[in-house]
Amino acid sequence: MPLATDDFLDIDDVTPAELDALLDRAAAMKAGETDPRLADATLGMIFEKPSTRTRVSFETGMTRLGGHAMFLGPDDIQLGHGEPLRDTARVLGRYVDGVMARLFDHADVEVLAEYADCPVINGLTDEAHPCQTLADLLTIRETVGEDATVAWVGDGNNVGQSFVVGAAMAGIDVEVATPADYGMNQSVFDRAAEFGLDVAPTTDPEAAVEGADVVYTDVWISMGQEDQREEKLAAFDGFQVNQELLAGTDAEVMHCLPAHRGEEITDDVLESDRALVWDQAENRMHAQNALLVELLGGA
Ligand code: CP
Ligand code: NVA
Repeated sequence: MPLATDDFLDIDDVTPAELDALLDRAAAMKAGETDPRLADATLGMIFEKPSTRTRVSFETGMTRLGGHAMFLGPDDIQLGHGEPLRDTARVLGRYVDGVMARLFDHADVEVLAEYADCPVINGLTDEAHPCQTLADLLTIRETVGEDATVAWVGDGNNVGQSFVVGAAMAGIDVEVATPADYGMNQSVFDRAAEFGLDVAPTTDPEAAVEGADVVYTDVWISMGQEDQREEKLAAFDGFQVNQELLAGTDAEVMHCLPAHRGEEITDDVLESDRALVWDQAENRMHAQNALLVELLGGA
């Protein structure tokens, strides 16, 4: 199903029906279905921050689709040396078939989308990580099913914000527990409500995980927040996903990775049978391949 949107900057740039179809397509491609539309296509990949999964899954994905992905790190292109983003965007749009960008400021990915005459995919900003959400929803569909309740425990960050909106679109129930000063933006809950999910955020992790089918967490100190380390570590005391928090639940555990063992999650939980994290990581590529063919491949 071709997508109505020109760009994928957050998960609700697609409709719930398109999201459902993308996940179907991702599952089919994971099972071996091929698509010829991106043969010889090039994806430019701008990274202002480090990455393992996003870089490798997009690059490998484009190779599998018969195309090519080009890594453009901060020191590799003139963007990192003073060329304005809107100029970079206009030039890249003349060469490549799509741009995937990992940037700090969400407003910058909007500038990229405005000026690049090709589809732009958000590979993580400080506000959103919709490609992660695609993989997360595929993982939930494959394991616990979409009638699940997922408890987000920890920082109200980019991964959590896109996940809550995407879960709402997929009909997944969500509980959110964050420290009071590190909650999600109210606009996230407003957008989730538009898809029929009313979230009542709490500061009590134990209340959030009660009855949950999945407990999802992410790092407490996101990329770019290193100077907040001491204050955040203090604020997140009690929010660690550990055996004590999970006791009395049958919950599976999700984490977008990279994990900081001993901070937001313990080593034994991450290494346990509860952990869906490796499926999540693999599903990044399958979900993004479906997105790439539908967004860059046209009708
Ligand atoms: N989950 C995720 O986006 O991982 P990377 O930072 O390794 O890309
Ligand atoms: N919240 C984390 C996610 C990393 C994939 C960060 O932004 O650093």
